[in-house]
Amino acid sequence: MQESEQDQFEKLIPRGKIDIHCHLIPGVDDGCANIEESIAIIEELKLHGYVGSICTPHIWKEMFPIMSASHIDRWVEQMEEELVGRDLNYALWTGGEIRLHKRVIEEWKEEGVITLAKSKYVLVDFWEPKWARWVNKSFEYLLSEGYKPILAHPERLPEMKKIDKYLESLLAEGVLLQGNFQCFTGEAGYQADVNIRRWMDAGYYTFLAMDAHRPDSIFSRIDGLDIAMATYSQQTIREMTEIKPRELILGLQSTVTDQY
Ligand SMILES: [Fe+2]
Repeated sequence: MQESEQDQFEKLIPRGKIDIHCHLIPGVDDGCANIEESIAIIEELKLHGYVGSICTPHIWKEMFPIMSASHIDRWVEQMEEELVGRDLNYALWTGGEIRLHKRVIEEWKEEGVITLAKSKYVLVDFWEPKWARWVNKSFEYLLSEGYKPILAHPERLPEMKKIDKYLESLLAEGVLLQGNFQCFTGEAGYQADVNIRRWMDAGYYTFLAMDAHRPDSIFSRIDGLDIAMATYSQQTIREMTEIKPRELILGLQSTVTDQY
């Protein structure tokens, strides 16, 4: 991209917090049931300094077979039109939260990988009682293809032995971690609460996000943001909610802090 085009692109990205993980697209997964619920969450996020969200419905064929890149593109466009119609100034980007499973690499080879905001960043999650070998294989595949995998909410994984070591080896390979604000409130359970604080102190996380599903839980997620803001430095939270998400959307690898 030419420098001037890059500058123009940058100007289109609003300044403020950007949520990289949410289930705002209505009626497609276990997130918002209708557009009114999506709007209710967006209005709440705006009140707390958010200027946009990357829409990340669950990409998990077994549970949500209708999900595809082209559908998500169209749904986000339709939501954007809805926001314009309501005079709501809020940016949306396309994305997905990909469930890792035994055959996910085959699926990626056949259908491609759904990324965040058309960047090389890929948000993934998994729920296994033990750390399976295919978890590492999936990350290795993404890294070898030039993607930047982000593991969503590792603090919510079932309690398992040596988890710190597994996460450390992922971090060493270039995998990034995203924590959920709600986990600071205790509402996601004892272990998630302990883990997120321990791994914040250890500097494991690159991003903190809402992972908002439906309006009934948005207040506890916002409470988690308030707790994090009271617990860590302003710069730490800004880095994880503004600077790094902006960097992601711009597709940059280095920090853009000095451009602020
Ligand atoms: Fe999610």
